[in-house]
Amino acid sequence: MFINNTTQSYDLVIFGAKGDLTKRKLLPALYKLEKNKKIFKNTRIIGIGRANWNNSEYCKIVKKNLINFLNIPLEQKIWKLFKSKLFFYNLDINNISCFKKLEKILNTNNNITIYYFAMPPNTFEIICQGLGKSYLNNKNTRIVIEKPIGNCFKSAQIINKKISKYFKESQIFRIDHYLGKETTLNLLSLRFANNIFFNNWNNKIIDHIQITVSEKVGIEGRWKYFEKTGQMKDMVQNHLLQLLTIIAMSPPNDLTENSIRDEKVKVLNSLRLINNDNVNINTVRGQYSSGIIDGKKVVSYLNEDGIKENSKTETFVSIRVNIDNNRWKGVPFYLRTGKRLPKKCSKIVIFFKKIPINLFNNAFIDIPQNKLTIRLEPHEGIDLQIVNKVPDLQSEYLLEKVKLNFDYINTFPKNSLSDAYERLLLESILGNQSLFVRHDEVEASWKWIDSITNAWESTNLIPILYKSGTWGPKEISDQIINQDKRYWS
Ligand code: BG6
Repeated sequence: MFINNTTQSYDLVIFGAKGDLTKRKLLPALYKLEKNKKIFKNTRIIGIGRANWNNSEYCKIVKKNLINFLNIPLEQKIWKLFKSKLFFYNLDINNISCFKKLEKILNTNNNITIYYFAMPPNTFEIICQGLGKSYLNNKNTRIVIEKPIGNCFKSAQIINKKISKYFKESQIFRIDHYLGKETTLNLLSLRFANNIFFNNWNNKIIDHIQITVSEKVGIEGRWKYFEKTGQMKDMVQNHLLQLLTIIAMSPPNDLTENSIRDEKVKVLNSLRLINNDNVNINTVRGQYSSGIIDGKKVVSYLNEDGIKENSKTETFVSIRVNIDNNRWKGVPFYLRTGKRLPKKCSKIVIFFKKIPINLFNNAFIDIPQNKLTIRLEPHEGIDLQIVNKVPDLQSEYLLEKVKLNFDYINTFPKNSLSDAYERLLLESILGNQSLFVRHDEVEASWKWIDSITNAWESTNLIPILYKSGTWGPKEISDQIINQDKRYWS
């Protein structure tokens, strides 16, 4: 599945060359691919935007951005190679003649051409149209698009339909950067290459599953986007649901893109919809007030630049999810995610059912459950909590919880964890879609999200304030899990 050598040159055309995503994520990732010798020598990276820059002016800007956003020093030798692949093209997406001129620069008949839309979704159709009408959409071309793909089921369906007029599904690469993270990929090997988990991954053995994705950052000036989105659509609809589907899916027939995605869609279609009657016991919304993060004062969401007075946008969500299929009936998944929480952390914790017979009730009346913790970020690794005898000479057993621990740093000291965008760019270049989201996955996830946001709206469920630097509106949000006599790990 993951072939790692590019043996062919290609053109990577980035719409939105001046934008934030390009500066912060794409260019640093491309530079690192160059450093890792993953970019073939005749490749061209063509930045597209509205500016009268020539190539050398563009290179200067790229260099400045790399210095700002690369987390490693810029090496002259690598920069020289990278720079030789950079080009800039001034294009107005509303002007079809610009696309016609672009056609003269590109060579889509012989070269693989990847169009990366680092642009808002309302521009997708016009760009696709420009490319289509200029015959720049033949089978050698691919488009890579970023979220948000719509803001509800209907709008997602419309976007998918519009794009599909010009590009086939096999040419469309919808990015969810969580799918490019090394530790997300490892979920597949953990589940499907280890019989101890493969055969015990169901409601007979597993009690419940917790998924936490917490962030320290606030909205980072992205008020225009975030006011309309909120944490539910910014994080749950995509990243958390992707993690959930990979954890919950049944084994695919093989590791090809459609086998994996078919199984993920089945999970999404089995999510029990939330309604007005149960939204209160299954979901909590929160919004950060001012507080302290890393010893520094931070403002409330309402005081962030651009935010409407009395905004009801949530920055924290906690949800109890039920999956109505044979494998997971009776096993709740608890999700929580929020901004301005005490630490950045993504983890999945699998709680196994308690042992049915306790032979050690003199030592431990209530033997703790086995607990598998998958640390996606930081301190990447996996640990398994087991119960162990404390070594001593007593004839009675004294037991204690201990951890079997694996971490990446000690086990793979020579292999660094690559950035999600590096991998996803490479996979899109190689034409492998398994790490990208298919149209029906996006639509199925929106159907479930819509059931929650509609219920929030019709029951007027507004966010509860929580202090920045705390774990959300804890007392209330913990009730979601505590009502089942379970507790956050
Ligand atoms: C993005 C969201 O998709 O993911 C951001 O739009 C969020 O709001 C980010 O901060 C989190 O990504 P990561 O990789 O830092 O966990």
